[in-house]
Amino acid sequence: LIIVMDFGGQYNQLIARRIRDLGVYSELMPNTLTAAQIKEKQPKGIIFSGGPNSVYGEGAPKCDPDIFELGIPVLGICYGMQLMSVHFGADVARASHREYGKADISADTTSTLFAGLPAEQNVWMSHGDLVKTPPAGFKVEARSESCPVAAMSDAAKKLYGVQFHPEVRHTKYGIELLSNFIFKICGAEKSWSMEHFIDEQVEKIRAQVGNGQVLCALSGGVDSSVAAALVHKAIGDQLTCVFVNHGLLRKGEAEGVVETFKNRFHMNFVYVDASKRFLDKLEGISDPERKRKIIGNEFIYLFEEEAQKLSDIDWLVQGTLYTDVVESGAGGSSQTIKSHHNVGGLPEDMTFKLIEPLNTLFKDEVRKLGSELGLADDIVWRQPFPGPGLGIRVLGAIDEEKLAIVRESDAILREEVKNAGLERDIWQYFTVLPNIQSVGVMGDGRTYDHCIAIRAVTSIDGMTSDWARIPWDVLEKISTRIVNEVEHVNRIVYDITSKPPATIEWE
Ligand code: XMP
Repeated sequence: LIIVMDFGGQYNQLIARRIRDLGVYSELMPNTLTAAQIKEKQPKGIIFSGGPNSVYGEGAPKCDPDIFELGIPVLGICYGMQLMSVHFGADVARASHREYGKADISADTTSTLFAGLPAEQNVWMSHGDLVKTPPAGFKVEARSESCPVAAMSDAAKKLYGVQFHPEVRHTKYGIELLSNFIFKICGAEKSWSMEHFIDEQVEKIRAQVGNGQVLCALSGGVDSSVAAALVHKAIGDQLTCVFVNHGLLRKGEAEGVVETFKNRFHMNFVYVDASKRFLDKLEGISDPERKRKIIGNEFIYLFEEEAQKLSDIDWLVQGTLYTDVVESGAGGSSQTIKSHHNVGGLPEDMTFKLIEPLNTLFKDEVRKLGSELGLADDIVWRQPFPGPGLGIRVLGAIDEEKLAIVRESDAILREEVKNAGLERDIWQYFTVLPNIQSVGVMGDGRTYDHCIAIRAVTSIDGMTSDWARIPWDVLEKISTRIVNEVEHVNRIVYDITSKPPATIEWE
């Protein structure tokens, strides 16, 4: 184990992630951890992360000073190095100008931290403060033009610091430096893999839950599916999955969820087909926000109804990822939730203890985990899908016929994107029924039918996006197939707006 102490920097989770990628288990932990608590966990090394504060600033996070006396190697990154410097009596000064971006350093390659790396290298700096003279006993290991102590060490005490960020890709030899630290300095061994993660989590979940009963709301999405599969592996029939089908899913989706979790994994599975109920509630409603509200409320209501039928549920599984963990260090496993915001639709007055087995992972690690647990690529590589589903992809009032048009055209789009091998390059791709009819000609006859819009975007996180440059021949095929195969469609348009100013969905 390598502990990454969290001082609030934006790349913190990335540090743990890089170390796991090197084959050593690493976890981000709060900076309030005491030396005694750390000792108990027997880490091979400790990394102090960067952070937004100035070490002298009001409310600047500190650490238990005894940590430096444990004899466990410590690497301070940016703020972490400044904290270490102050502790050992050096001054931290305001940099004459804030350094942000690439910088060239010259390093002492006889030191273990830089062993095997080029002396001159490019690193990523992001700081306002810097250490001008290292504390007594420390030697300078690297410097840059504007940063006299870009790296420092007291090898006897096993204390190291770097002013730059080895965890970001822009630091060319960052991974190698971290590797030197964890293997050459800490003596860690490669022992972590997804399999180990599964074993560890299984143990942890069993210990946590005991004989308790656990509930999971399955949506068919990647995160809830992987979380359910993992918890099921740990506690089998103590887990019950509830899947509410609101009838606004894509073609084959509900069947896929039932097939995977009920038939293949043999989970305790409650399937609620509420399609008709949702459609009834939505009849004649055209305002998107009202549609959202109705769908959300009805979902909560149904989930609650089902949960109440099951007796003595103690725990709720959530597929929270690290990116969803708002407060650093708060990703503990047993807070009680009161807010439905967590899951986009859970009752306000329900109190469960939470199991969040994915809250240290990145999305791509979750996908890897899902595959390891035996989930099919269809689930593991599923694109993001909004809670209200097709309900916000038929613009205006919804009815069966319009839903069918979207469902069928969307299935064709998905099939052709897959055939073209593009499905992992595009963040989201779907069809929209804008609810306009236009004139066309089919055979010898005039038609007056629906238009279908294709939306396909690239994005990192859904906050901003660009329209995907799907090759024209692929678009042509999709267009031809949709008008030929989906009744009541005579025109296809491609949405070429980015977000902003548009949004990804049309409603
Ligand atoms: P927009 O349309 O706001 O979408 O650019 C950004 C991301 O959020 C998804 N989305 C939703 N997800 N409930 C959800 O769970 C919603 O009401 C909702 N609206 C949009 C959208 O699919 C995209 O990934």
